[in-house]
Amino acid sequence: MQRRELLKGMGALGLGSMLINSPFQAMATPTQNLVVNYKDLFNRALAENPDLIGFANVEQNFAPQALTIEGSIPSDLNGTFYRNGPGKHERAEQRYQHLFEGDGMLQSFHIENAKIHHQGKFINTPKFQQEQQAQRFLYSAPDTKLNAPLPVSSADMINTANTNVIPVGDDLWALWEGGSATRVNSQTLDYQQQIVLGEQSKYGTSLKGLPFSAHPKIAANGDIWNFGLNPSGHIVLYHLSANGQVKNVKIVDAKYRGGMLHDFLITDKHLLLILPSLTTSRSTSNNQQGFFSRIGFDKTLPMRVLVVSKSDLTMTKQYELPAGFAFHYGNAWEERDGTIHFDASLYPSIDVLHNLSNVMQGKMSAANVDAQMAMFTLKPNGSASHSLLAINSEFPRICDYLVGSRNQYVYHLSSSNNSLWSDSVCSLNVDSGKQDKYDFGKDFLVEEHISVCPKNKEGTGYLIGTALHVPSKRTCLNIFKVENIADGPIARAWLSHHLPLGFHGNFNAA
Ligand SMILES: [Fe+2]
Repeated sequence: MQRRELLKGMGALGLGSMLINSPFQAMATPTQNLVVNYKDLFNRALAENPDLIGFANVEQNFAPQALTIEGSIPSDLNGTFYRNGPGKHERAEQRYQHLFEGDGMLQSFHIENAKIHHQGKFINTPKFQQEQQAQRFLYSAPDTKLNAPLPVSSADMINTANTNVIPVGDDLWALWEGGSATRVNSQTLDYQQQIVLGEQSKYGTSLKGLPFSAHPKIAANGDIWNFGLNPSGHIVLYHLSANGQVKNVKIVDAKYRGGMLHDFLITDKHLLLILPSLTTSRSTSNNQQGFFSRIGFDKTLPMRVLVVSKSDLTMTKQYELPAGFAFHYGNAWEERDGTIHFDASLYPSIDVLHNLSNVMQGKMSAANVDAQMAMFTLKPNGSASHSLLAINSEFPRICDYLVGSRNQYVYHLSSSNNSLWSDSVCSLNVDSGKQDKYDFGKDFLVEEHISVCPKNKEGTGYLIGTALHVPSKRTCLNIFKVENIADGPIARAWLSHHLPLGFHGNFNAA
């Protein structure tokens, strides 16, 4: 689409103001005095329950350090594992009220010659820079309302870049979902700029500040596919080259009012936008509440699947599925006759989102235990079916080179002992149903583990990921051979301290 056409299209769709109508713009208005002191509540709860340590505030960057290695690092595992997540939850006497609000902090684990070096750095976004200088929060967050916040005129003013990180060219893109991707130096982790997609092309600055989700899909040829949800119910679709240049952008009027759309899928021919059964309360009284707390689940509302052609980013088909919600999907693939298969970590409600607010005030609730692995099939005749497996599942990942193609394995986390966070890493052979699992035990809070597999050799290679050991207050990086997960990690590298619990990461092979 030409820039002129895109702008025209945006105008026709009433999206001319999209750049300032951020998903979180409602927070710009001071609405209420805080009755509950989250900081006080959390820190009192932390004194009683050390499991909460992963949600504690991080004061400053973590200096580079060599990690203490147990076992042996495989000689063929070289590169850097990057992770992202919220780290700055508190400033002055204010503590954020939702886990999704904290400023992004990157962790890098550089693996070379069987040694591992770590560093951790806050992403020095415009928001972070201003608030660091002021030594207090200046802007209200999606759920947390300040008494006298600075006004927000664009989403990127409060972009925390706190959800995912992907290598693009020589750089990293730190990803949020309400605004732009953020370019970061892959060596130093220093902030560079908020990316204006298409700036050097016919698009000019027309895409500046549009929502860009934290779950882009990288196809086998390197192309980057992504979406961004606007609160108007429109969804922006992106097709980028491997170096981040815009190839195509379109807007779909999905008429989706759920407020949150976190992940999506691709096949070799299509994008799948799976719209969960969410609603956003709009009553006057509820407007006093925060952005996340206003999101509800409607069990009478089917999930909708929008199938979009990759070739021109237009919608070709829709399906309806039973009511549900998923933060994350593992993979989708398509048979020759057009039948589409995909998996989801499926929740029966939206309680998980609200539990991630409860935990910020130190309340223990089952934040991560009720998602089940679900396998969906969409038939060309418009029918859909699914099966729910008796497998607790979150943070599903597959071999990178198979994104959009048929995969045999899904790697994921589950929870056996801990109601607060995951405690096990697992693999599922989706063809045979065979499972493999390593239970870290009740002392560990286990984070996303990712597959590092050689191209065309699915089922080999390594799973790597971090886990917080609560008793010693240290985080370790774990390396598993994917063929023998139940045997436990073949190597474990210990930091001298713990890291904040984060969300997503990726490996950049040397
Ligand atoms: Fe996510």
